Amino acid sequence: MKIGFVGTGTIAEAMVTGMLGSSLDVSETSFDVSEITVSPRNGEIAARLAGLSPRVRIGADNQAVADASDVLFLAIRPQIAEEVIRALRFRPGQSVVSVIAATDRAKLKDWIDAPVEITQAIPLPFVADRAGVTAIFPPNPDVAAIFSALGSAVECETREEYDLLAAASALMGTYFGILDRTTGWLAGQGMPEDKARAYLAPLFLSLAQTAVKHGGMPLAGLRQEFSTKGGLNEQVFEDFDQKGGTQALTAALDRVMLRIKR
Ligand SMILES: NC(=O)c1ccc[n+]([C@@H]2O[C@H](COP(=O)([O-])OP(=O)(O)OC[C@H]3O[C@@H](n4cnc5c(N)ncnc54)[C@H](OP(=O)(O)O)[C@@H]3O)[C@@H](O)[C@H]2O)c1
Repeated sequence: MKIGFVGTGTIAEAMVTGMLGSSLDVSETSFDVSEITVSPRNGEIAARLAGLSPRVRIGADNQAVADASDVLFLAIRPQIAEEVIRALRFRPGQSVVSVIAATDRAKLKDWIDAPVEITQAIPLPFVADRAGVTAIFPPNPDVAAIFSALGSAVECETREEYDLLAAASALMGTYFGILDRTTGWLAGQGMPEDKARAYLAPLFLSLAQTAVKHGGMPLAGLRQEFSTKGGLNEQVFEDFDQKGGTQALTAALDRVMLRIKR
């Protein structure tokens, strides 16, 4: 399988880095990547990626990348997407994966001049370490296999599901915000910030690992499991829930969803 990237920026670099050395990068498997062609912009990133493996080469221009690819990733910014995509010639049946934000399939279909298979995806920077979860829409086994090799893939049956996961992915800043606010509170009580962080970051990591490991257990059950009746954990969640935390969280998600749907 030949993979290409139009737009060689931050997220393309993360994906290519993850692909190299992944299960896709083993020629004995039936689903391997024989060649990755990246577009010449950004030149510095393209050169860096080409230096990682002889399987990565830099296409002469965007069209050369499209021509060389069975699966073509569009990884450009939304502002220039229409201009770049309309200028390309696609092959009927080619698989096109757009990671472009705020650009739905209807627009992509309108801009693409051939009957191609269009998939949307929301890769996150963690794909570089093959630890990223990626939402894709609509379900596509080949695209899901690529993202599974970079962590895991969640295939959305409907656009609504896909938009909902896009809204949920907007919680990343808040995750760090909670760590930051808590570290700040600990520092305000006299604890050195680096020590506070050295405690909190692994604690949150263990909690996330527990949620993944016990995927079949309801989250409310996990909350109870980690909260002694009448204890400190129960008290903090009750305060969060009853004093505006849940309301602020759900209102923020509602508001981000409105923006995504616009
Ligand atoms: N970063 C993330 O975590 C992330 C996650 C999911 C989705 N996305 C989406 O992925 C897309 C790319 O994001 P990014 O963060 O990777 O942005 P980025 O780092 O700015 O990458 C975009 C790349 O496109 C190149 N480019 C500009 N004009 C071009 C053209 N005419 N033809 C081909 N390439 C061109 C830019 O090159 P120059 O540097 O030379 O201008 C740049 O390297 C966006 O739509 C974004 O919403 C990003």
